[in-house]
Amino acid sequence: MLQALTNIIQNSVEAYAGTQRPPEILVEATMYNGSRVHMTITDHGCGMSKEAVGDAFMLFATSKPHGTGFGLAIAKKIIESDHGGAVYLESTRGQGTKVAITLPREQEVREW
Ligand SMILES: Nc1ncnc2c1ncn2[C@@H]1O[C@H](COP(=O)(O)OP(=O)(O)OP(=O)(O)O)[C@@H](O)[C@H]1O
Ligand SMILES: [Mg+2]
Repeated sequence: MLQALTNIIQNSVEAYAGTQRPPEILVEATMYNGSRVHMTITDHGCGMSKEAVGDAFMLFATSKPHGTGFGLAIAKKIIESDHGGAVYLESTRGQGTKVAITLPREQEVREW
């Protein structure tokens, strides 16, 4: 999970490059019904076009000159396949981005 959150927060840091805004990133976590954790990571960086939002979780989708496009694809895999959660992205170009994550508070131990 640390890797997933690092990738998402790293994107928020990078989204402030070229903007004049204070680089604030808001991370919130709330428990629902004692069973699910809801997290959001919000920035007011460069934001994304609708098309870019649609492609964002695809491997190799990048708008950055030295980006690999791995960050969100790996984050999605970790959150959804490894932890039984879900991840969503809302973004407006020029305004900012919010990534929302839901996770079960406890996970069944997998039998291999
Ligand atoms: N918080 C954000 N603000 C603006 N754009 C974002 C944000 N998060 C993701 N994106 C967009 O989604 C694309 C994919 O993100 P992803 O983390 O998968 O790859 P990357 O950041 O380009 O490369 P890498 O993470 O491998 O260095 C980014 O190139 C960027 O265009
Ligand atoms: Mg990234």
